[in-house]
Amino acid sequence: MAEPGEGSDGAERRHEPVMVAEVLEYLGTARTVIDMTVGAGGHAEALLDAGVERVIGVDRDPDALRMATERLSGRFGDRFRPVAGAFSEVAHDVVGAGEGDGVLFDLGVSSMQLDEAGRGFGYRGDGPLDMRMDPTGGPTAADLVNDLPEEELADLIFRYGEERQSRRVARAIVRARGRGRIETTGELAGIVAGALGRRPGRAHPARRTFQALRIAVNREIEELTTSLPWAASVLAPGGRVVVLAYHSLEDREVKRFFRDAEDLRALTKRPLVASEDEVERNPRSRGAKLRAAEKVDPGLPHFPAGSAGRNEP
Ligand SMILES: C[S@@+](CC[C@H](N)C(=O)[O-])C[C@H]1O[C@@H](n2cnc3c(N)ncnc32)[C@H](O)[C@@H]1O
Repeated sequence: MAEPGEGSDGAERRHEPVMVAEVLEYLGTARTVIDMTVGAGGHAEALLDAGVERVIGVDRDPDALRMATERLSGRFGDRFRPVAGAFSEVAHDVVGAGEGDGVLFDLGVSSMQLDEAGRGFGYRGDGPLDMRMDPTGGPTAADLVNDLPEEELADLIFRYGEERQSRRVARAIVRARGRGRIETTGELAGIVAGALGRRPGRAHPARRTFQALRIAVNREIEELTTSLPWAASVLAPGGRVVVLAYHSLEDREVKRFFRDAEDLRALTKRPLVASEDEVERNPRSRGAKLRAAEKVDPGLPHFPAGSAGRNEP
């Protein structure tokens, strides 16, 4: 995935979908796919073009959902159905148990969200320190940065950003907020850079802190862990769930879930990654990990991916 702030030159750019061929390989023959993260509708469009009869597209970002609807409704009519909301909240209403035959999660944020300074995801531009995918409610990144006790802030930056110097970052934030509320992405990026220093050729020092805040603001890990069991439950036997994850915390959850769910069989022994060509064409595909699993009848024996040469794509 593009790092927050990458390409934040203000240009309106459409999100380029990641690993489309691989997604189609697993979901292209489904009849109904629930796209839990429809974004700009790139994967949804490819699925509909490939002959999937119906795509239900969920997104908690009203701007993204509007963009997907504009892109898809004209071409595909009621084969595309947009649904607004966080997937953990709305999923239960979109299809009943055993009725789906494909579920797609393309996690994280879109290029449009990252590139628009006003959304507050990026550390390179300057905008309000917001980071909510759904800007209509809930605490912002500024609320966390200004209100959390130092130790909690350090833990959050360590857990979700995997930032080894989280205590130093939290200390610098708390010192800075003693001089007044931290309200913008530029201020926060400057505070973190001041605490950690900048090294030429290395990623921006605020990258991990911004990732941590974004995950916390949007409760991304909780969203995923509550929704994977739902995905397994709506699939009929033979139905598939595909997840594209962009950082190790998410991928670890997916791997664990696919391994432990009794009614799923992993189709990918190891996660698939984008080809070199794709990474060159679309840098945000760097680091993407795709895992797929298939619903099995829990009454029948099944074999994990890679055993007896089964089911490697
Ligand atoms: C990486 S983008 C998806 C891009 C999309 N696959 C495409 O081809 O355009 C992720 C999208 O998922 C949405 N999203 C992330 N977590 C969500 C959640 N828990 N519930 C609903 N939407 C979510 C974000 O708002 C964002 O628009």
